[in-house]
Order: sequence, then structure tokens, then C-alpha cells
Amino acid sequence: MRRKTPPRPKFLIKTDRLTLRPLRRPDYKVWREAYLEVKKNKNKYDRTLRKRSDLTERKFLKLLQRQSLARRLDQRVEFAIFRNDTGQFIGMVYLFVFVRAIFKHGMLGYSLFSSQWGKGLALEASKAVLDFAFDQFDLHRIVAIIDKDNKRSNSLARRLGMTREGRWRGAVQEKGRWVDHQVWVMLSEDRS
Ligand SMILES: CC(C)(COP(=O)(O)OP(=O)(O)OC[C@H]1O[C@@H](n2cnc3c(N)ncnc32)[C@H](O)[C@@H]1OP(=O)(O)O)[C@@H](O)C(=O)NCCC(=O)NCCS
Repeated sequence: MRRKTPPRPKFLIKTDRLTLRPLRRPDYKVWREAYLEVKKNKNKYDRTLRKRSDLTERKFLKLLQRQSLARRLDQRVEFAIFRNDTGQFIGMVYLFVFVRAIFKHGMLGYSLFSSQWGKGLALEASKAVLDFAFDQFDLHRIVAIIDKDNKRSNSLARRLGMTREGRWRGAVQEKGRWVDHQVWVMLSEDRS
């Protein structure tokens, strides 16, 4: 008998204030507008400042291709976050697949435009993506790897209900150097 393949998840999440989904061709204008509004990065973790030459339609379409391939290869899903009230593009939540098999491990990442910080929007978006990861994407253990000095990100991980498990040595390469990061973890059964 042929085994049934599980249904492909819909990469569409709605919350009270937000809609999360992969970027699409018609998003080019709002995507570009959002980056053009950034005048400087707010801290060293904020990487939203872009050169105008990085905001061409050609580069946007290349980005869509890379994101679509990564989804098809089951490597990662990149959710663009849109505000329901204004339709603005306000940031991204990333869900990486580390390993499936018997492990089902993934990783969460996030970045919002600084004009949207301090409103609980990153919390709302990330919580919804964690629920998606456990309930629709068949993952069981999600980590967030965070620089110890990144106050906002560490505080978000705590508010999401993640548990700090310690330090990963040489977790991330930054400017050619491997640096340690804190590791925060959530299991599907940890959710309240
Ligand atoms: C990390 C990041 C996404 C956090 O964004 P954020 O806006 O601080 O996070 P939240 O959405 O949880 O908002 C928390 C703030 O909103 C406030 N808030 C307002 N309304 C709220 C609500 N309804 N629910 C929860 N918090 C609310 C909280 O009190 C808190 O305020 P404070 O920052 O003055 O203490 C953002 O700082 C960012 O994009 N940084 C750059 C990229 C980055 O560091 N990524 C992570 C790499 S590991």
C-alpha cells in the first residue's frame, strides 16, 4: 500500500494585528518603501539599513527565488510580517529546519524595522510562528541563538516562554570570527 504524504502546510498565519506569509511579487512596492524609510540602524543587531542599489526589483525577484527554493528544499520558511491595519511590511520571522528524522529540531529568528519596536508585535509574530512550527510543520524542539548583549532579543525569547539552556560555543560567524551565543529552547510540550 502506498504511504500517504502529509498535506503541505499553508504558509499563511493570521493574528489579531498581523498577517505572516512568504513575500510575493506584488509586495515589491511595500517591501521597498519599508527599507527606504530606514535612515540608520538602531543598534548593532539591527541590519535593516540598505543601499538603494540593493532595493531594485531584480534583486527582490532573486530574493523571492532563494526563499521559494529554501521552502521547497525544506530548509527554511521566511515569513514576511504585514500589519493588518495599514498593510505595511514590518519585518521577518525565520523558521529554519535543522534536522527532521526522529529529532524534529528547528531554529527561530526575527527582525523588525525599528519603527515597529516596543509594541509587542515581534512577540505576537514569533508566538504565531512557534505555534505553526509545532502544530503544522512537524517540529518538536526550536532554538533561538542570541548574543548575550542583545537585550531586546533575549527579553523576547524569555517572554515567548523559551528556556535558556546555556551557551553554544562558536555558534555564529561574525566579521570572520566565530562567536558564542546563548541558546534558548522551546519544546512543543512547553507551551502554556
Ligand atoms: C529583537 C526584536 C525583534 C524585538 O522587538 P521588540 O519590539 O523589542 O519586541 P516585542 O514585540 O516583544 O515588544 C516588546 C516591547 O513592547 C511592549 N509592548 C507594548 N504592547 C505590547 C503587547 N501588546 N504585548 C507585549 N509587549 C508589548 C513591551 O512592554 C516591550 O516594551 P520595551 O521594549 O519598552 O520593554 C527587535 O529588537 C529587532 O528586530 N532587533 C534587531 C534584529 C535582532 O536583534 N534580531 C534577533 C537576533 S538573535
